[in-house]
Amino acid sequence: MMPPPRVMKSVITGSGIGIPKNIVRNEALARIMDTSDEWIRTRSGVEERRYADPGQGSAELGAMAAEEALQAAGRSKEEIDVVIFATMTPNFYFPGNGPVLQAKMGFAESMPTFDIRQQCSGFLYGLDLADSLIRSGKYRRLLLIGADVHTPFIPWQCGWDTTIGLEDREVTAAEREINTSIRDRTVLFGDGAGAMVIEASENAERGFVEAKLFTDGSNIEALYVPGVGFRHRPYVTKEQVDKREPIPVMEGREVFKQAVSRMPQSVRAVCAAAGVAVSDIDLLLIHQANLRIVEGVGKALGLPAEKVPHNIERYGNTTAGTLPILYHECVRDGRIKPGMLLCFTALGSGLHWGAALYRT
Ligand code: ACO
Repeated sequence: MMPPPRVMKSVITGSGIGIPKNIVRNEALARIMDTSDEWIRTRSGVEERRYADPGQGSAELGAMAAEEALQAAGRSKEEIDVVIFATMTPNFYFPGNGPVLQAKMGFAESMPTFDIRQQCSGFLYGLDLADSLIRSGKYRRLLLIGADVHTPFIPWQCGWDTTIGLEDREVTAAEREINTSIRDRTVLFGDGAGAMVIEASENAERGFVEAKLFTDGSNIEALYVPGVGFRHRPYVTKEQVDKREPIPVMEGREVFKQAVSRMPQSVRAVCAAAGVAVSDIDLLLIHQANLRIVEGVGKALGLPAEKVPHNIERYGNTTAGTLPILYHECVRDGRIKPGMLLCFTALGSGLHWGAALYRT
């Protein structure tokens, strides 16, 4: 008789985070723009976020997270077959962060690296890509990184050095006006990274179960960067910079509405595809964009608050960093235990969104 076919699963064997040291509380933002701790907390749940040091990019934060993840997995760099780096804010316009990280961390010279974007859904897309690459049998051990730095979008010349203690002054009325014009976005975001080592396993009980990913490009203007792109000749001009077009534009209410409807839909879809009930999910790890979105998604799915962890109050939205940072903290504090059914879900610019199920 033929032996049963071998099942190939992909499992997370270690995780790590790269968090900059500068803590920026809401009060520091209220000093340089018209906002308040109360507004930011009640509308978004954010209490503080981290800002990278000058010269510290997403590749540097990603490398910090990757070192910790390798250590947690007990793997050396030589044992990693491939890297996937998800970020919308790479150190350079090109190449992406893959080769930057490879050289910085001293990986094997010829190890392949993938660079993906997908903004706030970057890590979720990376999880499905990682699982597919491993289950295809092509690679056995993979490092997946999600990292973003939002601070380079900020007009630093308008008094922002005060937020990280590099300067101590009051802003001028003109600077306050500029900072206030982008307050709906700046108060939400922070810098940060997370990483996972993902490996092939023949234990059919554990690993990624199913993922459902979606894209709808019919309204990219809901969240995008209007200036600096290759439909412009040249791709960046002083005029664009003066008009602050390299700063992201966001229709907050529209994105909010999409987030609280699309994420629950994708969670239901992935559960249906895997033949499990939504109530079987032990922990729902949601992209941390706004505490009201996190709570709204949990509520729409009928999941109790203890199944829906959040840390947006401490980091704000770190885009591709939120899911691995949240996962890592839940492992570290014991909320993630063996045998649990986890569901990752995210939505962001694109729009891209989706959900992935994972058995620990
Ligand atoms: N401080 C004080 N007041 C503010 C601030 C601020 N930081 N920001 C906006 N306001 C004001 C507005 O100007 C407006 O004033 P007005 O009524 O006089 O015009 C008022 O507050 C209400 O504004 P709304 O936009 O209606 O506020 P809302 O409750 O919708 O909250 C927010 C805004 C927090 C942006 C919310 O819409 C949101 O979180 N949206 C989703 C964001 C998101 O998920 N982004 C996706 C991921 S990011 C990615 O993919 C890269």
